[in-house]
Amino acid sequence: MSMRKPGRIPCPGREIPLLMMCLASGGFFACTQDTRRETGDTEPAVLESDTDTDTDTDTDTDTEVGYTYLHDRDIQPIWDSYCSSCHGTELVQEGLVLAGDAFDRIVDVPSTQLPTMDLIEPGSTGSSYIWHKLQGTQDSIGGFGEQMPKNSGISEERMLEIETWIIEGAPR
Ligand code: HEC
Repeated sequence: MSMRKPGRIPCPGREIPLLMMCLASGGFFACTQDTRRETGDTEPAVLESDTDTDTDTDTDTDTEVGYTYLHDRDIQPIWDSYCSSCHGTELVQEGLVLAGDAFDRIVDVPSTQLPTMDLIEPGSTGSSYIWHKLQGTQDSIGGFGEQMPKNSGISEERMLEIETWIIEGAPR
């Protein structure tokens, strides 16, 4: 009579090397996904999950690919911190609301001060009235009023983000 029943002893030995491989190559998140999946695919699961991360820039599975900045992710927070005190829900200067979800109110939407120019023209800072207001060049193209953000400054980094976002086509 044998005390050992090898067939029924749960043996974690097979999973440990897999776990360690995951941790070494991709981090814990990739690992938990892989061990749950176990589809029996011949393709390594680690490679599959790599295409789901947004650090990956050379696949075409993602609409974000190729853009440095996206409006909702990167630009809206700039409006929220620099502009919403005067272009928000309580105070709406010049009919412009930049707080909350501004994309549909600025991209391809005419300026109030210079109706022949859109607030944001995808691909062109020179044809984007917001950009002129930020640079203080609104007078040179027929606009008026003060440089924005009124009563404060905006950092070079944020300006570069907005500029790059417009030039790349103002993606949402
Ligand atoms: C302290 C208040 C204040 C802040 C903060 C402010 N604005 Fe303004 N904004 C105004 C006022 C007042 C006007 C109308 C008078 C003028 O243009 O000087 C205006 C007008 C504008 C216009 C013209 C709107 C149109 O349709 O023609 C734009 C564009 C604009 N602001 C963009 C911005 C942006 C972008 C920010 C943030 C980076 C910002 N503003 C921050 C007060 C402010």
